[in-house]
Amino acid sequence: MKTSLFATLATFALAMPALAQDAAGDPAKGEAEFKKCKACHMIQAPDGTDIVKGGKTGPNLYGVVGRPYAAEEGYKYGEGLIELAEKNPDQVWDTAHLVEYITDPTAYVKEHTGDTAAKSKMTFKLAKNQADVVAFLAQHSPDAGAAAGGDAAAPAAPAAGGDAAAAAPAATN
Ligand code: HEC
Repeated sequence: MKTSLFATLATFALAMPALAQDAAGDPAKGEAEFKKCKACHMIQAPDGTDIVKGGKTGPNLYGVVGRPYAAEEGYKYGEGLIELAEKNPDQVWDTAHLVEYITDPTAYVKEHTGDTAAKSKMTFKLAKNQADVVAFLAQHSPDAGAAAGGDAAAPAAPAAGGDAAAAAPAATN
């Protein structure tokens, strides 16, 4: 028994670094790649600081990693994303879900609502470097720690304790 448990753990140990690398992406490359997104999306902090100036066709992506679906206040989401949020109230945008969404937003919405007529208002598809873009978004997402699981989100790690809002100001000086 012990041997098989050990073997299982060893397999995980070998697999993890490769997985972590894939999932984490490269935020510097992602920043360059984000040029494709900014026609429609800005990244603006709650205090009004522009991290990336961008369009308003899509929601502000500040804090999107770790945020529930369709949760940017004041943005008018399409029916597909609203249905997605209603059917998955406990799901937040984590790395895997974001990579899948930006690869093909409408396919993602169909898959995760179970509604073949559902679609996303986002018509853009990113065919490569998705994980890099998500790593870049995670750098500007205070709640990313729990969701992304990557190094990019390390400063937000205390959020796992629950009170992200309280933890964030304490970390600055
Ligand atoms: C042509 C405009 C356009 C481009 C380019 C675009 N998006 Fe979007 N995006 C949208 C729209 C519109 C929505 C809202 C979707 C809806 O309501 O169905 C959206 C929604 C999203 C959401 C969901 C956010 C939430 O609050 O639930 C994410 C994440 C996202 N986009 C990421 C990206 C990323 C990353 C890129 C670049 C790789 C990108 N988008 C490029 C228009 C765009």
